[in-house]
Amino acid sequence: GIELGKLLATTGYITHDPGFVNTGAASSAITYIDGDAGILRYRGYPIEQLAEKSTFIEVSYLLIYGELPTETQLAEFTGKIQRHTLLHEDLKAFFSGFPRDAHPMPVLSSAVSALSTFYQDSLNPFDEANVELSTIRLLAKVPTLAAYAYKKSVGQPLLYPDNSLGLVENFLRMTFGFPAEPYEVDPDVAKALDLLFILHADHEQNCSTSTVRLVGSSEANLFASISAGINALFGPLHGGANSAVLDMLEGIQAEGGDVANFVTRVKNKEKGVRLMGFGHRVYKNYDPRAKIIKNTADDILSKLKGGDQLLDIAKKLEETALSDDYFIERKLYPNVDFYTGLIYRALGFPTKYFTVLFALGRLPGWIAHWREMIQDPATKIGRPRQIYTGYASRDYAPISER
Ligand code: ACO
Repeated sequence: GIELGKLLATTGYITHDPGFVNTGAASSAITYIDGDAGILRYRGYPIEQLAEKSTFIEVSYLLIYGELPTETQLAEFTGKIQRHTLLHEDLKAFFSGFPRDAHPMPVLSSAVSALSTFYQDSLNPFDEANVELSTIRLLAKVPTLAAYAYKKSVGQPLLYPDNSLGLVENFLRMTFGFPAEPYEVDPDVAKALDLLFILHADHEQNCSTSTVRLVGSSEANLFASISAGINALFGPLHGGANSAVLDMLEGIQAEGGDVANFVTRVKNKEKGVRLMGFGHRVYKNYDPRAKIIKNTADDILSKLKGGDQLLDIAKKLEETALSDDYFIERKLYPNVDFYTGLIYRALGFPTKYFTVLFALGRLPGWIAHWREMIQDPATKIGRPRQIYTGYASRDYAPISER
């Protein structure tokens, strides 16, 4: 494929592939997906095994360094992250500049972009020690930034990280705790969030990861590239879908729970009406992540809040869609976002915040891809071609003659 690409470039041929449906933009050893069979593996390990047996911090190590850590490696990695969770005090002032009702995703991407200005000592993309330090800084500080984006949106005081806690527990405390008040992390909540982070941790060349790679291919630093990835994730067709699913379910509930009527509107392609959380560019089968979440949703939701009427609507919606020719013919199945919003809501997060949680989960994947890209000798600056459809050539007319 690569050789054919080179050959075509010299002959002047261009492949026109809107949405990059058939374009392999990179070779990668991180994540394997078989969309027809519904298979997802990180570094060769099936997602089902990682979801059942691993932890988010271990999966982060696996994605970034290629192997599961030994006990010593994990302790060292965890310790390094714990030591970098604090933000520069001046960076906190940043959050006061945004309107209180701002969406937390642009707040987060701006704050991550600002890391380039506060941590100028780790920006060289070709210095391994710099890249390592930026990696740890991101893994440690993005949860703090995300918690602060939340705290500012609800007008509550910011908490310093408590580095005796694990990554997820620390994040939960900074998000929901109050200074000078003890905060008990509910182990069920921490476990559920850890599982969701594992399931979101990587998904090969999706829109945000491709963005991270493309921006990084110009040798932009890791912070700048990840900030761009967060912006790509914001869109409702990508990470924003988890919030959109909940809005959709609440809309159906408000109209009396008429699932069949909603599905008819989707099939009629009413403007702006899609079955959110359904369909995927690569999966033409049940998304294995959605399967895991669906299997645990009942358990988690009944533990956390004694069940959820919206879960019943979601299940009915899925059942209706999966037996309908429109969805069968187009191979549309629930994707990872179909059930996650319900769990995030049960954990206490407002709908607007769901995509930030996706970003926290996807962070190690973005970092792993950026590192793989920068180390790959085959990397060139990303620069797609185009099929020009404008005027051939015309002469400039002075403004008085137009
Ligand atoms: N509801 C209704 N119809 C759909 C849906 C949907 N969710 N998804 C696809 N279709 C239909 C399209 O209308 C199209 O039908 P047509 O051939 O009659 O025109 C056909 O299925 C193919 O759809 P495309 O839009 O060409 O598929 P594409 O691969 O470009 O899009 C996407 C994939 C963006 C995920 C799409 O399925 C979608 O919009 N889903 C809803 C949003 C969503 O859940 N996004 C999260 C994706 S997963 C993630 O980012 C974590």
